[in-house]
Amino acid sequence: MKKIRVAVVGCGAIAQRRHIPEYAGNPNVEFVAFVDPVIERAEEFAEKYNAKAFASYEEMLSAIKPDAVSVCTPNYLHAPVAIAAANSGAHVLVEKPMASTDEEAAAMIEAASKNGVFLMVGHNQRLMPPHVKAKQILQTGALGRVLTFRTSFGHPGPEGWSVDGKGSWFFRKEEAIMGAMGDLGVHKSDLIRYLLDDEVAQVTGFIGTLDKEGTDVDDNATCLLRMKSGAIGTLVASWTYYKGEDNSTVFWCENGVMKIGTDPNDQIIVELRNGTVEKYNVGAISTNDKQETSGVVDAFIESLVTNTKPSISGEEGRKSLAVILAAFESQATGKVISL
Ligand SMILES: NC(=O)c1ccc[n+]([C@@H]2O[C@H](COP(=O)([O-])OP(=O)(O)OC[C@H]3O[C@@H](n4cnc5c(N)ncnc54)[C@H](O)[C@@H]3O)[C@@H](O)[C@H]2O)c1
Repeated sequence: MKKIRVAVVGCGAIAQRRHIPEYAGNPNVEFVAFVDPVIERAEEFAEKYNAKAFASYEEMLSAIKPDAVSVCTPNYLHAPVAIAAANSGAHVLVEKPMASTDEEAAAMIEAASKNGVFLMVGHNQRLMPPHVKAKQILQTGALGRVLTFRTSFGHPGPEGWSVDGKGSWFFRKEEAIMGAMGDLGVHKSDLIRYLLDDEVAQVTGFIGTLDKEGTDVDDNATCLLRMKSGAIGTLVASWTYYKGEDNSTVFWCENGVMKIGTDPNDQIIVELRNGTVEKYNVGAISTNDKQETSGVVDAFIESLVTNTKPSISGEEGRKSLAVILAAFESQATGKVISL
């Protein structure tokens, strides 16, 4: 089979830790280009994989015409790069948050559809083994209806993650648009929609910059969500969990409780009201310090090989983004926002 010619735009942390190694491990992929304005970053991988390095994505798209593009840039560039790639005829895998605004997200979906290419969003939380298992357990019905939940994602902040450390774009509002909410909160709005197979109906949010200095992007958020099913819960995003990462979700249901990611050994613990306790060791949740294979790249390539629309589509990414944007609207207006 002819290999899929892939270009990676943005050669920072997420490209280095997940996209590039996962493409490199996929037998259907051949790298054709790497793009980064810090050209040494692109050159390092171009040399390693016998591909070309570019400082500009526009130049790369017209010179190379790749089959597929991974968009691993700062948030404000997701929409322009994804739309330019789709218009050049390339399938697109874009990192989360998929865009800065709902209008941008809609334009990305439209560009992919108009050009007959696939658009996938890097919502890797859906593919983490504990979350896959949690969805199966919820689907058995053993726990009954989910009544309330909490989902949270916190770590010490992107200064310990981004290739540019404290000088990262993550702290510049014009490039990041959102802080902890765009970095972590959107993972959790996507996860809740996915696990509950439900949509968010109403949102309120308290969002602020509590501790990071020299930035006006949010470093903490606590949101209340009411789902269409009636379930209510909280969504928390934080860049100030200095004593360690929390990436956990708990569902309190009619027949018991399911805890995901609260115990390092058993990633899922189900405690039923009848006294039964079930523990599942199903593979770790990825942390900043210890990366697990995300599965996102393999799922994207599988879509292209089988000509099947990715399940984590642009439409899905748009709905998960809308929850976060609604929380910001709530913070700005003091109102409960209906979606
Ligand atoms: N799915 C996940 O779990 C996850 C985790 C971390 C980051 N991300 C997302 O990945 C994206 C990138 O984040 P990161 O952590 O790699 O950041 P990073 O700061 O480590 O890297 C960003 C890179 O983009 C480059 N860049 C800047 N302008 C560019 C341009 N015009 N063209 C090409 N490259 C450009 C920078 O030079 C840098 O090398 C963000 O949107 C972030 O939200 C997703």
